[in-house]
Amino acid sequence: MSESAKLFERALHVTPGGVHSPVRSFAAVGGQPLFIESAHGARLIDADGATYTDYCMAFGPLIFGHADADVAATVHAAIDHGWSFGAAERWSLELAELITTRIPWAEQIRFVNSGTEAVMSAVRLARAATGRPLIIKFAGCYHGHSDAMLIEAGSGMAGVPASGGVSQATASETLILPLNDIAAVAKAFTEHGDRIAAAIIEPLPANYGLLPQTDAYLHELSRLCRQYSALLIFDEVISGFRCGFGGRAEQLGIEPDLVTWGKIIGGGFPVGAFAGSNALMQRVAPAGNVYQAGTLSANPVAMRAGLATLEKLANGEAYEKLKALSEQLHRGLQHIPHVSVTQHDSLFWLRLTPGGAGEMPEPPRAPGQIPTGHATSYPRWFRHMLNAGIYLPPSPHEVGFLSTAHSSDDIRALIAAVASMPPA
Ligand SMILES: Cc1ncc(COP(=O)(O)O)c(C=O)c1O
Repeated sequence: MSESAKLFERALHVTPGGVHSPVRSFAAVGGQPLFIESAHGARLIDADGATYTDYCMAFGPLIFGHADADVAATVHAAIDHGWSFGAAERWSLELAELITTRIPWAEQIRFVNSGTEAVMSAVRLARAATGRPLIIKFAGCYHGHSDAMLIEAGSGMAGVPASGGVSQATASETLILPLNDIAAVAKAFTEHGDRIAAAIIEPLPANYGLLPQTDAYLHELSRLCRQYSALLIFDEVISGFRCGFGGRAEQLGIEPDLVTWGKIIGGGFPVGAFAGSNALMQRVAPAGNVYQAGTLSANPVAMRAGLATLEKLANGEAYEKLKALSEQLHRGLQHIPHVSVTQHDSLFWLRLTPGGAGEMPEPPRAPGQIPTGHATSYPRWFRHMLNAGIYLPPSPHEVGFLSTAHSSDDIRALIAAVASMPPA
């Protein structure tokens, strides 16, 4: 029995499903999860001493790869000066100034501990600012696990809980709409416009595979929000600081009313944030009456890890390297007949195409457009790649992440492993 399997057996006794976040359990790909002992650059080493090239990259925060030397040096230095003050400190100020200078419409920012907290707080703020109860959410977008966001499409637009413990009353205040369907948004505003506080969307949906929305769709969504005086919340927990420093908002030329960040903003430490105009953010306590707080918020070590990461991203060099890797991956994969890939910047999503369709002319833009069979063929795919020493995300609906620690040799090995996958 492998060491990972032994550890998992023990973990099952003391933790639900043996893990502390569901997707880590390998439930979607079968078998037992690998227990990771260490990670450097693009590599993971598991409890049995096996090495893998990592394309999951902790689900997004590690844009410079594991244990980046600059972030590590900063964190080591920080630790010697204490790691939690519960008091004001300079590092969150510097990180806030860096972000608000580079992204001017984000005039004020509040740091929290996770993307979930960021979204939960932004939704509360949107309701307070508009005095309205309803939130539009799109099926297939994930915004963390606060009650209001754990709602899936039910019959019509009335939300039904996607998790035990979410009340019907909460669900009824989240309107679920299909992605990529502007008519559905217009209809929701026509019917409920004076009760809609905000629409929240991942401007690059990356939690049900990668489901890019057209620029025209996102601009029209923004316009409709303004027309009905509802707020637009861009959840850039994945796309923020990855699709360029200013995220998808900058790429699109859209200024959302509120943005939520996570992952890269903490350099791999637990940080989330929400930001917006002075007028909106002044409603947050203690300046205003929208309560939000956290014992460990703006933790000085996490703030310095975030600062080291964002300072390194600010000159744009990392994005150039990632672009080159992403283009190499695209070129290498596009002629493999049994594979489809959707890519945006340093995010990619691989699918087996049983019919041999190769690259699809149009990527899926909503969960219903994902070819059936992807989820069932993915476990075989995942195992094949693992045997080739490549660690993909352990779920058919999670995207792959490139980091600057990946080399073009790594990408060549990834392409070769994909090419050697037997057709379905
Ligand atoms: C777009 C998006 N929003 C929110 C979250 C929740 O963030 P966290 O896991 O840090 O709570 C995630 C997590 O993957 C996410 O991808």
